Amino acid sequence: MRFPTLLAISVFFTTALSHHGHFPRSDDTPIYAPIPATAVGPVIPPTGYYVQPLGKGAYAVLDGSYQSVFFVSNKGVIVVDCPPTLGHNLLYAIGNTTSIPVTHFVYTHSHADHNGGAFLFDTGKVTYIAHEETLLRLKEVPDSGRPLPHVTFKKNKILKVGNQTLELSYKGPNHEPGNIFVYAPVQKVLVLIDVVFPGWIPFSELAVSENIPGWIEAHEQILEYDFDHYIGGHLSRTGVRGDVVVQREYLTDLMENCREAITNSTALINEIVGATVAGNPGNGWATFKTYLGYTANACANKTSEKWVGRLGAADVFAYENAYKMVEVLRLDYDFLGPFSVV
Ligand SMILES: *[C@@H]1O[C@H](CO)[C@@H](O)[C@H](O)[C@H]1NC(C)=O
Ligand SMILES: *[C@@H]1O[C@H](CO)[C@@H](O)[C@H](O)[C@H]1NC(C)=O
Ligand SMILES: *[C@@H]1O[C@H](CO)[C@@H](O)[C@H](O)[C@H]1NC(C)=O
Ligand SMILES: *[C@@H]1O[C@H](CO)[C@@H](O)[C@H](O)[C@H]1NC(C)=O
Ligand SMILES: [Zn+2]
Repeated sequence: MRFPTLLAISVFFTTALSHHGHFPRSDDTPIYAPIPATAVGPVIPPTGYYVQPLGKGAYAVLDGSYQSVFFVSNKGVIVVDCPPTLGHNLLYAIGNTTSIPVTHFVYTHSHADHNGGAFLFDTGKVTYIAHEETLLRLKEVPDSGRPLPHVTFKKNKILKVGNQTLELSYKGPNHEPGNIFVYAPVQKVLVLIDVVFPGWIPFSELAVSENIPGWIEAHEQILEYDFDHYIGGHLSRTGVRGDVVVQREYLTDLMENCREAITNSTALINEIVGATVAGNPGNGWATFKTYLGYTANACANKTSEKWVGRLGAADVFAYENAYKMVEVLRLDYDFLGPFSVV
């Protein structure tokens, strides 16, 4: 298989299902469009991780699906995130690069899929740093995998360790409240997790983000930085400015198409929901589901026409992203279609 990424993800399933032997394709096996060359990243070696030098002691660590970063200084190593899929491999990646010990661990945000391996660095000698909102999240659902940060901040924090400097910056809620920008000005490396997905469309439901207007605005905030490497946390490769510009264009199209789909559905509302209403008298949610599903499909179909082949998996989460955008237009942008002021 070309993507060791899937290898990492599917170890569990493969192990669990191995007694079934091979998995022949069946009639209902989903077959999506091929992945464009621009979505392909470096080949992950058999160790399960790939270390990409970003210059002057900065390194990205990739497993094909998740990404982490570390900075080697003359006084200690700073680790930014430890996704469980990297887990111990992140320790090995650092151990094979330097004998200088890890002294600082930065949480970009609270989510377990990016930081469930944070405890692996908890030697008692490592300072954990996060935004204050991240501390609140981690207190809300205590988890031994994600130790509480020792140091928090509100707006900006300069983290200086030996010869390495990181600018930590909070610009408001986007993917999650507390999700921070981590910028290394010397190496021109920018880390912002779960916003831009270089080469790919965003993960399901616009990366399951909590504040979509803030998440969209984050694209502009990224472009205000002077950076050569963007680390988004996924999937196959790190990114550059062009990736941010392309994803911004995808989102502009998606929003435009969903607006159009809502307008079209408003004119056709009786045709769209008539049968559902007749078959489910008094069931308002059933009507709503039919309306939202039809509208999201229309938006997804139109968006896919342009983006399949241009961004990886544009057909895979086409519906989920359109569905989320339709909801965002309704709730955040007051574009309510058939449910506007009467
Ligand atoms: C800092 O020191 C480390 C360890 O000596 C070195 O690998 C790295 O290139 C240096 N980085 C900068 C920004 O000077
Ligand atoms: C170096 O990498 C290998 C392969 O991942 C690993 O087994 C080994 O423990 C690493 N060495 C150090 C010192 O971390
Ligand atoms: C809206 O309807 C017009 C006219 O039928 C059609 O050309 C357009 O593709 C539709 N838009 C969407 C997003 O379905
Ligand atoms: C979207 O495309 C699918 C597959 O071609 C089609 O079955 C469906 O009717 C389309 N939906 C809308 C609302 O255009
Ligand atoms: Zn996340």
